[in-house]
Amino acid sequence: MAGEKLLMHMNAGNGECSYASSSTLQRKVIQEAKPVLEDAINNMFNNNIGDFPKSSCFNMADLGCSSGPNTLFTVSNIIKIVQVLCHEKSCKMPEFQAYLNDLPDNDFNAIFKSIPSFYRDLKDEANCFISGVPGSFYERLFHSKSLHLVHSSSSLHWLSQGLIEQAKLDSFNYPFYAPYKDEVEKIVQMEGSFDVDTIKIFKVNWNEMDNDDDICFDAYSSGKHIARTMRAVSEQMLVSHFQFEDSIVDYLFERYAYHLTCHLLVQKGDFFNIVISLTNKK
Ligand SMILES: C[S@@+](CC[C@H](N)C(=O)[O-])C[C@H]1O[C@@H](n2cnc3c(N)ncnc32)[C@H](O)[C@@H]1O
Repeated sequence: MAGEKLLMHMNAGNGECSYASSSTLQRKVIQEAKPVLEDAINNMFNNNIGDFPKSSCFNMADLGCSSGPNTLFTVSNIIKIVQVLCHEKSCKMPEFQAYLNDLPDNDFNAIFKSIPSFYRDLKDEANCFISGVPGSFYERLFHSKSLHLVHSSSSLHWLSQGLIEQAKLDSFNYPFYAPYKDEVEKIVQMEGSFDVDTIKIFKVNWNEMDNDDDICFDAYSSGKHIARTMRAVSEQMLVSHFQFEDSIVDYLFERYAYHLTCHLLVQKGDFFNIVISLTNKK
């Protein structure tokens, strides 16, 4: 429908098809990219970038934080990395300010409800203050020079939404682009503000629980698991565009699980990721 806006947010809540319950694949991506995050923070520390570690507060942002266990997992990873560094270099731990950004329809309420227990778990280890920043990362979100570290995982390939102008089926425009590593590098160079410290590709099995050597590999349950992961990510976009009823969505993802199973019986599915670490030139 002309002028219709795509509803772009992950499935809310804690149900079986919620992003919170079906995002272990994205958690695996965060874990695989962690060494690059460690190197980036180490580099800041050693080169005194952004006046770190002297600065009394470490300001970080996570772009496209979504809601669920991965949201605070990233914050907690960053705190632990800084903690180890401070311990090794015998310097005082800074306080932390974490800005969690996502689109305004994201389930920020669920995040905010989990913050008290996150603070409790941190106890005496660190002082951390968390704020939500609703808005698109394609627009200005922060005042200048306010952040030491900007992190984003499984989010930057989502394109800005635009308007859909054609008939429903033809016009369904999945706002997703998977670039080549060289394209990313070229765009960073052309933009000019950042030096590329690290850029790497790594792959994760579509079913992150599938061990490559597993002789008891079950294609059917893998197909179902991957379909659930994809449902948590794309259901709202499909429903808002096609105005599907619940029963049709269930059917659609059953069919999808079936096709995935057929595919997995023939070959394994790999999910390629680019991890990039940049330093601001200014
Ligand atoms: C697949 S989730 C990744 C969530 C989390 N970072 C993780 O690794 O589990 C992608 C997130 O990016 C958000 N997103 C997409 N486009 C965005 C934009 N332009 N501005 C802010 N967030 C955006 C989506 O709403 C969604 O929550």
